Amino acid sequence: MSTFLWSANEELPDIVKVFTYSIDEDKELFYYDILGGIAHTVALYRGGIINQDEAKVIIDGLYKLKDKKDIDFSKYEDVHTATEVELTGLIGEPAKKLHTARSRNDQVALDERLYLRDKLKEHLILIRDIVKAFVDLASISLDIVLPGFTHLQPAQPVLISHHLLAYVEMLKRDFSRFYSSYPRLNECPLGSGALAGLDFPYDRFLVSEILRFNKPTANSMDTVSDRDYLLEYMFNMLVTSIHMSRFGEEIVIWSNPLFGFVKINPGYTTGSSMMPQKRNPDIAELVRGSVGEYLGYLDTLVVMMKGLPLTYNRDLQIDKKVIFRASHSFLILLRVFKGLLENIEFDREKIRENLENEFLLATDLADFLVNRGIPFRSAHHIVRNVVFYCQEHNKLFSELSKDEWRKFHEEFLELPEDFFSFENAVTRRDTYGGTGRNQVEYQILLNRRWLEESQSQIESIASVSIEELVLNL
Ligand code: ARG
Repeated sequence: MSTFLWSANEELPDIVKVFTYSIDEDKELFYYDILGGIAHTVALYRGGIINQDEAKVIIDGLYKLKDKKDIDFSKYEDVHTATEVELTGLIGEPAKKLHTARSRNDQVALDERLYLRDKLKEHLILIRDIVKAFVDLASISLDIVLPGFTHLQPAQPVLISHHLLAYVEMLKRDFSRFYSSYPRLNECPLGSGALAGLDFPYDRFLVSEILRFNKPTANSMDTVSDRDYLLEYMFNMLVTSIHMSRFGEEIVIWSNPLFGFVKINPGYTTGSSMMPQKRNPDIAELVRGSVGEYLGYLDTLVVMMKGLPLTYNRDLQIDKKVIFRASHSFLILLRVFKGLLENIEFDREKIRENLENEFLLATDLADFLVNRGIPFRSAHHIVRNVVFYCQEHNKLFSELSKDEWRKFHEEFLELPEDFFSFENAVTRRDTYGGTGRNQVEYQILLNRRWLEESQSQIESIASVSIEELVLNL
């Protein structure tokens, strides 16, 4: 039996086979190729293009094929060829009707969309889990005040929960970016043919419904030649990986003994082959480093698509080198990130030691003057002089005498006793979205609500298995 769906006069040279075959990658689509094949067979039968017996034999054959263990994929050009030739091996003649009203061009677009739809669900579940892990950590860490940084320099005290919730916002946006791509992804290519549509009575709406797509794609030429759903998917992965890399970097910094804010459980660190005392934050580092991988994938897809004339061109096969590797890596990245989050512990004492720097309250001091009618710019200037003075005399704000304060401004004499409490400084930042405890608790509440809503969004993503499809026929 030929291992090609087309015939050539001459055998292809081996090097050409190696160069053109996509089977090493696209065998991942085998399940979806069969799923699509079954739905297609139903449409062929309903359109009177094949008869009931033929349809039954083909569907039974495809159903069996999904569990066939001994397939030597390597001899086929691509997964579509493998499915058809293997089916012919199982059921003989009727298999030759399966490719009626179908081209590999719409077939591959279908398989990819089915594959990505399932991946989308898996990825959304994990992103939501990560959001939950952050929210849980934020809820049990409300007592920790952290020096917040700008330029990686101590800036103002913040609740560590506020810091963690910043990542929650990023990841919720990631979730929503993925989720909003769903309607564009969830359209059914079948029935587009090679590029022009079909000259058979083929009900595209029916096949779309069977596979639980929202609707058939609207233009056959666009359908077989664009991969923007993939570009979008890859971009979404990239942005999520960027967000995770930022947290990875923070864990690297925070776990350094010079900071000591966080301890990572041994399972999420590694040892050094030479220096026995060391535990290295390799997992956080690899999270940090993963961005390049996704950027590379996106880059490959962008270059693949750029300037391609309508409609299908073989360049489009290059996406196979990306789509599966990216999805696998991303799944692992999300899982390991979640594990990392569940395996860190804040060292309250160390954080407190690092916080004992009253200069973090310099802005509060300026704001105190502003509240007493002094223009901010002048207040800033006055406080800067206080800071210089303290540094020069090696004193903290709270160690200054009344006489010293008076030299800078009379109003300072009104400073309340507990003004230099970091907790109070945090509580004062009570604007919506700020680090004030009430605000942070409110955001935790909103995030818990989000966790419920997002659950139903995940559930709204359609999926169909071969078993289900066959059972419902
Ligand atoms: N392996 C091909 C791909 O991934 C399948 C489509 C082949 N179509 C064709 N006209 N040669 O794009």
